[in-house]
Amino acid sequence: MNPTAATPRTFRPRRYLMCRPEYFEVSYAINPWMDPDKPVDTDLAVLQWERLAARYRALGHTVELIDPIPGLPDMVYAANGATVVGGRVLGARFRNAERAAEGPAYLRWFREHGYAETLDPEHVNEGEGDFLTTASWLLAGRGFRSSAASHREAEAFLGRPVLSLDLVDPRYYHLDTALAVLDGDEIMYNPAAFAPHSLDLLRRHFPGALLATPAEAEVFGLNAVSDGLHVFLPEAAHTLAGQLAARGFRPEPVDLSELLKGGGSVKCCTLELRD
Ligand code: ARG
Repeated sequence: MNPTAATPRTFRPRRYLMCRPEYFEVSYAINPWMDPDKPVDTDLAVLQWERLAARYRALGHTVELIDPIPGLPDMVYAANGATVVGGRVLGARFRNAERAAEGPAYLRWFREHGYAETLDPEHVNEGEGDFLTTASWLLAGRGFRSSAASHREAEAFLGRPVLSLDLVDPRYYHLDTALAVLDGDEIMYNPAAFAPHSLDLLRRHFPGALLATPAEAEVFGLNAVSDGLHVFLPEAAHTLAGQLAARGFRPEPVDLSELLKGGGSVKCCTLELRD
């Protein structure tokens, strides 16, 4: 049966790791959204980010913080820092030299915060940017950032079956810009971001998925965080918010205009700690 507005939804309090964008700027371009010539208002980025963290906390979620490091402007995109499933922490290894130092910095945070099972990865993977956890699967993106070999490494270490998905549009360079997990094995995605064979896989395994239009993807509508009931997503994604409400979710529109200039939004700023 397809979900409707009357589908009962419940949320589970989550633990998130976030990084205040104190040193955020766009000083290099490693994705098509970044333009170093376009001004960024760092104070506004911090304010918008603070509002998001406060809203998570107001709903009962825990927000842990990692200290930002000068010279690592993209560190605010905490989702890229690791992948945590069942308390096991798969560290990140970044594709681009500009972000390389973030991997060890995030891994250090986990080791200092009592996580005993951590792995410094051999293969390039950009954390939850490309690894999204559903009830049954680890959905894994490749094509732009995380390597195919990292999918095997994640499957072995995190102990979850991996579904590898090929991304084909450089604007949606991370899986979390093209697909979001809503609840259990319920997902939403932008079909245009995937190679035909990956689309077949998604259709087969997730027949009830919510499909987003290219216009909703363009405002980063798929870069969303769900706690099972509330779905935090960019405020410009009106159509998607309506579709979510029609399935019984509560859309929570968020304004992260400054962080969009780095090519990220809500989900990029939020690493879920699945302890
Ligand atoms: N500027 C960053 C990059 O290109 C943005 C990362 C966005 N994060 C994400 N989880 N999609 O690497």
